[in-house]
Amino acid sequence: MQTITGLELLRKSIADLQRDGEIALVPTMGALHEGHLTLVREARKKARHVIVSIFVNPTQFGPNEDLDAYPRQMAEDSRLLEAEGVAVLWAPDVAEVYPDGFATNVSVSGVSDNFCGAARPGHFDGVATVVCKLFHQVLPDMALFGEKDWQQLAVIRRMARDLDLTQPAVGNIIGVPTVREDDGLAMSSRNRYLSSTERTAAASLPRAMRETIAAIEAGGDVAGALAGLETALKTAGFHTVDYAALANADSLAPVLSLGTDPARLLVAARIGSTRLIDNMAVLRR
Ligand code: PAF
Repeated sequence: MQTITGLELLRKSIADLQRDGEIALVPTMGALHEGHLTLVREARKKARHVIVSIFVNPTQFGPNEDLDAYPRQMAEDSRLLEAEGVAVLWAPDVAEVYPDGFATNVSVSGVSDNFCGAARPGHFDGVATVVCKLFHQVLPDMALFGEKDWQQLAVIRRMARDLDLTQPAVGNIIGVPTVREDDGLAMSSRNRYLSSTERTAAASLPRAMRETIAAIEAGGDVAGALAGLETALKTAGFHTVDYAALANADSLAPVLSLGTDPARLLVAARIGSTRLIDNMAVLRR
């Protein structure tokens, strides 16, 4: 595995790899866990070469968020990626991605507006801008993202369609199902912030979501089921529920009663100093 920190060298390496077959990009912020490694394994099944980026992107963190505390473990991440057969670890520093005078912002309206977009102003502009840059830097044939960040995936898909970053420029954007711990908690780099009491309580999030989905799919009132979910989370120890909502799976428009379009239950809730997000499919039965 080559570890590259400068764009010039990245371009040379990509030109060589492209001659030899398709390239899949897995963008990450590091602190890798089984969820990321699943993306890498999926990528290896689909493409000849896998490039993983590790960049803790400052523009997607708000002023009072955890940018400084965000876990960084480059040596361990690099070891994990090498063992997975990754061709290139692209690990630019902030000055490489945002050189002096950087003045461009990619903003995707609509899908970005609600949920994490409302709770974390500017977050999706930061995500869209850096992912747009990564796509142009790596020019992959496909890029893989975890479905755990469902709204992020919807924002990236919208951006790729709107800016003509789809085939042949970047190719497919592939969502990979969320990887969960044995008790159902979605894997996340932020789970390591949880104390052991919080970690036990955190498992109530996927449990309460499944119960809510069962109620909605059985024809229950959506608003009532969502209110019940919020109460269940607070009872379990979450002090704030940023949102607990049913939304159209593609447009992310709020859904007030379950129709035939695919819907998603989306939740963000805070326990201690940690903000957890999760989402699950809701189907009309
Ligand atoms: O999901 C993430 O880790 C980040 O938001 C991403 C897509 C790598 C952009 O910084």
